[in-house]
Amino acid sequence: MSPVPISQINTGHIDDVQELRKAKPTLIPERFVRDATERPTLQSANRFPTTCVVLDHDSYDVPIIDLSKLMKVDEDEGSWRAEILKLKRACQDWGFFQVVNHGIDLSLVEGIEEVAKEFFMLPLEEKQRYPMVAGTVQGYGQAFVFSEDQKLDWCNMFALGVEPQFIRNPKLWPKNPPKFSGTVEDYSREVRKLCQNLLNSIAITLGLKEGTFNEMFGVGVQAIRMNYYPPCSRPDLVLGLSPHSDGSALTVLQQGKGSSVGLQILKETKWVSVQPVPNALVINIGDTLEVLTNGKYKSVEHRAVTHKEKDRLSIVTFYAPSYEVEIGPLPEMVDEINNPCTYRRYNHGEYSKHYVTSKLQGKKTLDFAKIIN
Ligand code: OGA
Ligand code: NI
Repeated sequence: MSPVPISQINTGHIDDVQELRKAKPTLIPERFVRDATERPTLQSANRFPTTCVVLDHDSYDVPIIDLSKLMKVDEDEGSWRAEILKLKRACQDWGFFQVVNHGIDLSLVEGIEEVAKEFFMLPLEEKQRYPMVAGTVQGYGQAFVFSEDQKLDWCNMFALGVEPQFIRNPKLWPKNPPKFSGTVEDYSREVRKLCQNLLNSIAITLGLKEGTFNEMFGVGVQAIRMNYYPPCSRPDLVLGLSPHSDGSALTVLQQGKGSSVGLQILKETKWVSVQPVPNALVINIGDTLEVLTNGKYKSVEHRAVTHKEKDRLSIVTFYAPSYEVEIGPLPEMVDEINNPCTYRRYNHGEYSKHYVTSKLQGKKTLDFAKIIN
């Protein structure tokens, strides 16, 4: 989470989208209007000249994984095996899945949503007591903005480093709503266990020892980001969140109850909407797992779009290895003839720094690790 020197960054004026929406509901400042090739409802995008369409079709729904089946190997081996296979396909073919029966208490799932919503509904001056300084990624504001001419996302963010303790900036933990910090703590503890359980199962799907990732990661780095997308009078012109892959190993995303559909993932050449499933959490593979698996499991590009009348809240947890861990394709994932090594070795802290000091631009940040022949 190391910032780039602030003196080098001139982001220009960044409108707070909630305030903008309140004051001038139909105004879309130029900085939010995407170039024609990036607009969300376009039938084609520059990268995929004729085929980039948005699909809302049922048959394109991301897989649903039942964690309770993954946790019960001794009781029902048949259903465990079937679920492991499903997980393997989800990681390989989608890079995204939704997890049900994840074991996180409904009261916590609802609680985090409630405090997040309450926080975003506070007066601007109060939220600005926790400012996200340009070039950093913690606090309230817009992350990943590094220049005056960069297009802005139709989104307000509030982000906190959670674990290990030394990444926390206590000044940024809100006192209001009163339950905010405690709820983030409790929720994060549970999500951390979920990540570790999923990493165990993912290791198994790769034919690795169950504890491979968790042992390697040490005390994993965990951060939380709450994204609030106000309605937008011209959802066809803006993006809620620019296309990107996550720098994490795993990401856990909770879509607010009653929120509009907004998360889209790039499946081959098509943007597919992730339909919210009640009480399910959306999981995706981050760049770190892509490297560790030598590209067998890919971090998939995704973005958020906005809605004309409805707002949307998402609560996102990023789980990654400890900063000092060296990352590179696991030897078991490399075969010089059929599956040559395509990523170099690097220190995860360096990658993390590179990620947070680059603008969100598809999977470009991962070039850092690619071996280009
Ligand atoms: C993210 C992200 C998508 C969403 O925060 O990394 O991809 O739907 N969010 O908010
Ligand atoms: Ni993301």
